[in-house]
Order: sequence, then structure tokens, then C-alpha cells
Amino acid sequence: MATRIPLIAGNWKMFKTGPEAADAARSLKSLLAGVSGVDVMIAPPFTALATVGDVLKDASIAVGAQNLHWESQGAFTGEIAPGMVKAAGCRHAIIGHSERRQLFGETDGDVNRKVQAALAVGLIPVLCIGETEAEREAAQTFSVLDKQVRLGLEGVSLQNPGDLVVAYEPLWAIGTGKTATREQAQEAHAYIRGLLRELYGETMADAMRILYGGSVKPDNIAALIGMDDIDGALVGGASLEPETFARIVKLGD
Ligand code: 13P
Repeated sequence: MATRIPLIAGNWKMFKTGPEAADAARSLKSLLAGVSGVDVMIAPPFTALATVGDVLKDASIAVGAQNLHWESQGAFTGEIAPGMVKAAGCRHAIIGHSERRQLFGETDGDVNRKVQAALAVGLIPVLCIGETEAEREAAQTFSVLDKQVRLGLEGVSLQNPGDLVVAYEPLWAIGTGKTATREQAQEAHAYIRGLLRELYGETMADAMRILYGGSVKPDNIAALIGMDDIDGALVGGASLEPETFARIVKLGD
């Protein structure tokens, strides 16, 4: 099986002003100096991307956007183009987060356009997928994941396994303190990897990273990452506090 370097990503959502984000980035930089064997990314709000990018320019912590628009420029008030995100120093872009889908009506078609647009400028999309509690209870988890992966990646060709990351975030575990058990998460991740094998072949899929997200904390990261198909985490609440996030990056130490 391919060796996959874990990726621990922090999604700061709509928290932290520019100066607050810069302070947190400075703390993270010193807390994580010398940590190896794990990739780290943080996704601050758009207004903090440039400052955080500047603080982290000589650190091995990548910066990501939380969203983008698929057009390259134009009269789209309030939107941000992929090229702008890239020029602000981002390596990744979170796409299709459940909050975008649920609160802002993003469809799988929108998500697909965003994935293509991100790849076109050399950003690594972090494609978020996951079922609601009602869908899980109705035994629809796999069919939801199937649809989100197939539609989200429709027509998307990848050159390298590192060009795209998938994040499985069951909605019932986001911000609720209810983590999926490691067995539930592993089952979903194995299913997702199976879909990626169908789309991209075994060698490629086995080298792609699938992150888990939903109430990840320093005390549950080690168990999650110990599972075969869990290659890291997308962390919300617990990424806001540098010490806590650094403990997650160090896998709970
Ligand atoms: P929490 O870690 O706060 O549950 O959020 C997860 C998430 O949505 C990360 O994108």
C-alpha cells in the first residue's frame, strides 16, 4: 500500500481578524518548528490570507482558502477568483464544505466547477463531502458519498495523487462534540477510496489523502489516524487555539 503522509488542516471558518490570525499563525509557527512527518495547512478567512501567508512564508505550514469562485474574474460582487487565492499565497482551497452547501445553497455542480477552477490555477482542492444525521439514519450514507464524489469530480482528471484531497465530514459530527467512531469513519473512508479507485485507478487512489473532519480533538486524533484509510484531519473549532491545534498535529502528544 502507498505511504501517505498525514495532512492536518485547520479550518478557521469565520473567526479571527487579520491581526488575530497573524498572532495565531506566529504561535503555530513556533509550536510546530521542527515537527516532521506530517503536512500542516491552515485556512484563515480571506481578509487574513495575505498576512498569514507572510507570517508563514518560511515555515512548512501551508495556507488554504475556505472557498473560491469558479470564474477567473468579472462582475461577481463579493466573490474571490482562484487566481487571487493563488496569488495571495495559498496552496489549497477547501471546496464544498457542508456549511457552504447547507447555508449558501452550493450544489454538486457548483462544487465541480470550483474543483476544476482550483486545479486549473494549480491549487489543491480539499473536496468536502459527508452525510447528514437523517441520511445516516436512513442508511443513505454510501449513496450520498457516491453522488458527492461522482458529481464533484465529474470530468476532473488528475496528474498526481497529491493534486486533490478529499475530506469526509459527517454533518452530525461538525461542531457537535459527537465524533464518528473510528470504525464509522474508516468504513466511510474505505468506501470513498473505492470510488477514487474506480475514477482514477488503484495506484492513484491508494496514494490520495482522505481526511476526516468533525469534532477532531487532541484526544481522538491518534485513534482516527491509526485507521487504514484515514490520512489526516480537517479541524474546525480545535484549530482556533494554537496550542490545541499543535497537539493535534503532534497526534495528541
Ligand atoms: P469541528 O472540528 O468544529 O467539528 O468542525 C469541523 C469542520 O467543519 C472542519 O471543516
